[in-house]
Amino acid sequence: MTPLAQCDALRPAVRTQEDVDAELLKLLETKGADPDFWSLKDRDRSDSAHRIFQYPAMMVPLVQRRLLEAVLEARPDVRSIYDPFLGSGTSLVSGMHFGLDVYGNDINPLAVLISRVRTARTIEFSIGAIAEQVAATAKADGRKTIETAMANREKWFQPEVAVELSRLRRAIRTCDNLWVRRFLWVTLAETVRLTSNDRTSTYKLHARPAEEIAKRALSPIAVFGELARENASSFSTFRRRLGEAKQIKAFKYVGETEVRVGDTRQVLDYWSDAAPFDLLMTSPPYGDNLTTVTYGQHSYLPLHWIDFKDIDPAADIATLRTTQEIDRRSLGGASGNAAWDEAKLLEASPKLKRFADGLPAKPDDGRSRLIRFYRDFGASLDSIVGVMKPDSYMIWTVGNRNIAGQQVPTNLVLGELLEGLNCKVVTTLTRRIHHKRMPDRNASSATMREEKILLARKVES
Ligand SMILES: C[S@@+](CC[C@H](N)C(=O)[O-])C[C@H]1O[C@@H](n2cnc3c(N)ncnc32)[C@H](O)[C@@H]1O
Repeated sequence: MTPLAQCDALRPAVRTQEDVDAELLKLLETKGADPDFWSLKDRDRSDSAHRIFQYPAMMVPLVQRRLLEAVLEARPDVRSIYDPFLGSGTSLVSGMHFGLDVYGNDINPLAVLISRVRTARTIEFSIGAIAEQVAATAKADGRKTIETAMANREKWFQPEVAVELSRLRRAIRTCDNLWVRRFLWVTLAETVRLTSNDRTSTYKLHARPAEEIAKRALSPIAVFGELARENASSFSTFRRRLGEAKQIKAFKYVGETEVRVGDTRQVLDYWSDAAPFDLLMTSPPYGDNLTTVTYGQHSYLPLHWIDFKDIDPAADIATLRTTQEIDRRSLGGASGNAAWDEAKLLEASPKLKRFADGLPAKPDDGRSRLIRFYRDFGASLDSIVGVMKPDSYMIWTVGNRNIAGQQVPTNLVLGELLEGLNCKVVTTLTRRIHHKRMPDRNASSATMREEKILLARKVES
């Protein structure tokens, strides 16, 4: 061996990013050898304060934690996690089990409220007793004044239900601590969901038949008391788990947590102080809200009973202008300035082009809705990739929806769009869905029975 070759042999091998990809792939393959590893029949959600509100399309906390564990094994330098389509905050809460700094945004103020409650660094441990006191105050309140200005209130709430919800709203307003109020607002939101005249079987607003409404004897104060007890107990389990994992010091979560109201098409505008992020973990919408999951309609009634100033100064009350407004502002909802143009989109994803070209001419809005969604999604990806560190991993959980009886190859389109933005798809895992609550049974997405988990990496340029 020449002296130079001897030197090379002694030098520690440099671990390239491709080596890390290979290591991560091996880890995922080993863990995924059990077909149920990602699909999980057992959905224990008790340790993440997961049930405080029934938000649509929630991810399974344990699956997200398993994914995180694998990434952190291969990349122990990861410190921050980002979710640009936050929903109820499952990714961030999963990141808290590992002591990560967690950041996320959503366009829906209700999603931001739920996530703020779940990811608070400090909480009030006597919340169970406080909530009981709030319910007692509401019960003792004899006033009949209605505390919401919503149009069409009589359609959605029985008179006595509106009176009790108003008493609860007044009682919550008397609490000084902001986290306490937010916790109580989320509990009130779930109370509204269960006691309004809206059907709980679909996410779209749809009133129950009059005769069914007349037969329902409901007490929102009693429902609220019950839910508050469950939520308080779920929080104490969650915080205990964080404590056992040494992620709480002096009653405070060790990492940063930051949740904002914001549109993913403009993330650079409001994350410049915290970006770039080390790891992305998210599940984006599968298509425009109206024909997939109407997150906005699902949030419309609860939001009418919540003080917006307690959610976020950026939470815009005009989102309650109509039942459609949040969905209209969401991806694919309305043509905005930020969207990619169609030619750029179809050039970036030949698979999307092939799919769109193959759609039948009738009904003709299938193609236009598809393209409008992906023009927004392309713009979002562009801006999201911009706040990620070079070589950062991204974990995308996506479902494949149907349009005109044909399955949109969502994961393949996402892969192509990411590759066009200087990212590499490392692998794709399949997760079978055992229990996921489906949107409207008749909606075009109802055939979704598995999800794909795409692991990608932003390539250093
Ligand atoms: C599939 S859900 C996320 C669910 C979440 N993973 C969970 O476990 O609860 C997608 C989210 O994207 C949000 N969304 C849609 N368009 C958006 C946009 N332009 N900017 C930010 N969030 C948006 C919706 O409000 C919804 O909460």
